[in-house]
Amino acid sequence: MVTLLENPLRVGLQQQRMPEPQIIVIFGASGDLTQRKLVPALYKLRWERRIPPETSIVGVARREWSDDYFREQMREGIEQFSDGIGSEEMWQDFANGLFYCSGDIDNPASYQKLKELLSELDGKRSTRGNRMFYLSVAPKFFPEAIQQLGAAEMLDNPLKTRLVIEKPFGRDLGSARELNQVVQKVCQEEQVYRIDHYLGKETVQNLLVFRFANAIFEPLWNRQFVDHVQITVAETVGVEERAGYYETAGALRDMLQNHLMQLFALTAMEPPNALDADSIRTEKVKVLQATHLADIQNLERSAVRGQYSAGWMKGKSVPGYRDEPGVDPNSTTSTYVAMKFLIDNWRWQGVPFYLRTGKRLPKKVSEIPIHFRQVPHLIFQSAAQQVNANILAMRIQPNEGISLRFEVKMPGPELRTRSVDMDFSYGSFGIRAAADAYDRLLIDCMIGDQTLFTRADEVEAAWRVVTPALAVWDAPADPTSIPQYEAGTWEPTEAELLINQDGRRWRRL
Ligand code: BG6
Repeated sequence: MVTLLENPLRVGLQQQRMPEPQIIVIFGASGDLTQRKLVPALYKLRWERRIPPETSIVGVARREWSDDYFREQMREGIEQFSDGIGSEEMWQDFANGLFYCSGDIDNPASYQKLKELLSELDGKRSTRGNRMFYLSVAPKFFPEAIQQLGAAEMLDNPLKTRLVIEKPFGRDLGSARELNQVVQKVCQEEQVYRIDHYLGKETVQNLLVFRFANAIFEPLWNRQFVDHVQITVAETVGVEERAGYYETAGALRDMLQNHLMQLFALTAMEPPNALDADSIRTEKVKVLQATHLADIQNLERSAVRGQYSAGWMKGKSVPGYRDEPGVDPNSTTSTYVAMKFLIDNWRWQGVPFYLRTGKRLPKKVSEIPIHFRQVPHLIFQSAAQQVNANILAMRIQPNEGISLRFEVKMPGPELRTRSVDMDFSYGSFGIRAAADAYDRLLIDCMIGDQTLFTRADEVEAAWRVVTPALAVWDAPADPTSIPQYEAGTWEPTEAELLINQDGRRWRRL
């Protein structure tokens, strides 16, 4: 028997292999993600001959589209959002494997129709019963789609079928647990791929290599040497056309609970025993379980939210969040969030981790600076000899790389010190580090490597950490109580105070 999952637990961040021929079924096929990211990523994989020619894609959505119309839409997506189709011959070959099946997410008959189409395609395209079901629908439809797939016995064979679930996975701890139960009723954890696209970024994967392939940093990676850690994911974009979704999510659910907490877990976790999916994910869960908001009794001392008001970006005036199309003029949704975490374990006791993310900030930049302690006894006393603590900065995007800041003597007769950076840039490899991670994540899923996907207990552990903030922030609030920051500026004053109260500053990026 040909099995899709050769030995999923043994496959880690290893060499890529060619996946088995399979059908990728995308629910929500008429949506943006399919056209902008998923199909262009699959086309790129096919172009690079990293997936077999039998690979087939079935788009499922409510609209009555034909196969040809679906193909046209996908071609447009590839032309507009990636490097284009390259060659007409390659496109034709790829397009022959694209199919569309209209259906309703809550209608069992739609799943029967889909099931029949899939078995017909198995014959035509030699896909051998291997399937990936990718849920790219609004999160409120996840449970229904999963239950229906289960009822239609489409997830029954754990060796041949996989379920991919987009973020956000739940709205809070309770709903994430419920969703996990729905999933666990119809499939095994080995079949489930909860996507967090940050894990597909080269620089995020490099966190593991940097930490565990170098002997000199690991001895410093603890409370003895580290003063604090900052994790920043700053965006210049506003809410764009996504008000419908964003109004119900906000920065905490959209970014912090998933992307930033993944960066946090990879930075703070213990060395795993091995490079396989479960060893890594177990360490991430352990550190998340030991993490809490710094001061739960006085939430404002460990969690701050904000919302952008009208301002200027690159010389253009931009509206405030409440004036964006589709946003409630009295909205209390936050577009900025900053949090201070502490970890109760031997490595990190007392070392604060400050996380912040926001939209309409001055720069698109994601970085993890590790701020080391000051030297224990300062022999340089004058202002000219002011000494700054060392900083190791992991630049996630853009200008991906790593830099180490240290002090040197300025040339000249006087003893003056100055900070300099020793810098590694991914650009020096001559290849751009892939910022867009869907090709990596899709092929991992096709192969059966769960390393870069979130496990059930991990997603619950991440929700638990932010629960005290959600409990307060989800309550109806007076719109005037939400701290504002002008679009194009770094953060609300309250977020400055969050870190200043500890005698520290946000690193200017
Ligand atoms: C998505 C969020 O998950 O990540 C968006 O929903 C955000 O709001 C995006 O803009 C940021 O991703 P990246 O890869 O551009 O940093």
